[in-house]
Amino acid sequence: MLELAGVSYSYPGAVRALDGVDLAVRPGEKLAILGANGAGKSTLLLLLNGSLRPAAGEVRLHGAPARYDRAALADWRRAVGLVLQDPDDQLFAATVFEDVSFGPLNQGLGEAEVRERITEALETLRIAELADRPTHMLSFGQRKRVALAGIVAMRPEVLLLDEPGAGLDPLGVAHLMAALDRLSGRGTTIVLTTHDMDLAYGWADRIAIFGEGRVAAAGSADAVFEDADLLKRLHLRRPLVWEVGRLLGSRGLLPDDAPLPRTRRQLLELLQAGDEDAAARLAG
Ligand SMILES: Nc1ncnc2c1ncn2[C@@H]1O[C@H](COP(=O)(O)OP(=O)(O)OP(=O)(O)O)[C@@H](O)[C@H]1O
Ligand SMILES: [Mg+2]
Repeated sequence: MLELAGVSYSYPGAVRALDGVDLAVRPGEKLAILGANGAGKSTLLLLLNGSLRPAAGEVRLHGAPARYDRAALADWRRAVGLVLQDPDDQLFAATVFEDVSFGPLNQGLGEAEVRERITEALETLRIAELADRPTHMLSFGQRKRVALAGIVAMRPEVLLLDEPGAGLDPLGVAHLMAALDRLSGRGTTIVLTTHDMDLAYGWADRIAIFGEGRVAAAGSADAVFEDADLLKRLHLRRPLVWEVGRLLGSRGLLPDDAPLPRTRRQLLELLQAGDEDAAARLAG
């Protein structure tokens, strides 16, 4: 539905940020983009919603080459919403309510529909009580959630999120991921970038690793994290849950029939369930 074919991009006067990227976003998937600082993740998202235009190659939307005229860009942004890395690049209205209402109002929706969208977006991000607050007087994590609510209120088909969890407290991250799961359950395609390997491992259907301006690997989490040399070369680490799960499995400390844990919670549950088995094995 959204695809990059041989896309390259350089910022004015700077080194090449993306260098021949091929990446297809599949309908309804949860895709995590990983990569070191400067790998090109934010640039990729800006290309995916038409904010930047490739120097070479093309972006395809529903199979057709993207167009960059005003009308086409407006349609594109309605279908593909981007939440920027820094909320201060995104927020501009005086209050939270006004900021979140901007997108739906601009879509020409009726007043009742706009209200419903705003209420739903604020509740999804658990910030209903902030509605009347001035945006510039919120904490960083609160501003981050408001920026996200503004895009969620537009109900895009594809939601692009640049490091959505960075700067949120643990409960904030849990709420955010729950909100993303709800949106995903309703059919929204979600692409996010993150430096949190465990978050990516626990959440994503598919992982793409960026390095040196290209997709260095893409596939299931298990396939991608298997390649220790690649991760090392790109200055990335395996998720702790992945490492611990495999280590315990190889030592026979997990129940035989259990799938490997993907989240911290699954790991802890497995360890508790495996307790008796493990104790018996160690004893004899
Ligand atoms: N506005 C800009 N002007 C010039 N060069 C830029 C600009 N933004 C990014 N770059 C360069 O483009 C490359 C890719 O940057 P990008 O922001 O896409 O990386 P990233 O993977 O998002 O990194 P991070 O993890 O730090 O957010 C880097 O070499 C960076 O220095
Ligand atoms: Mg970035």
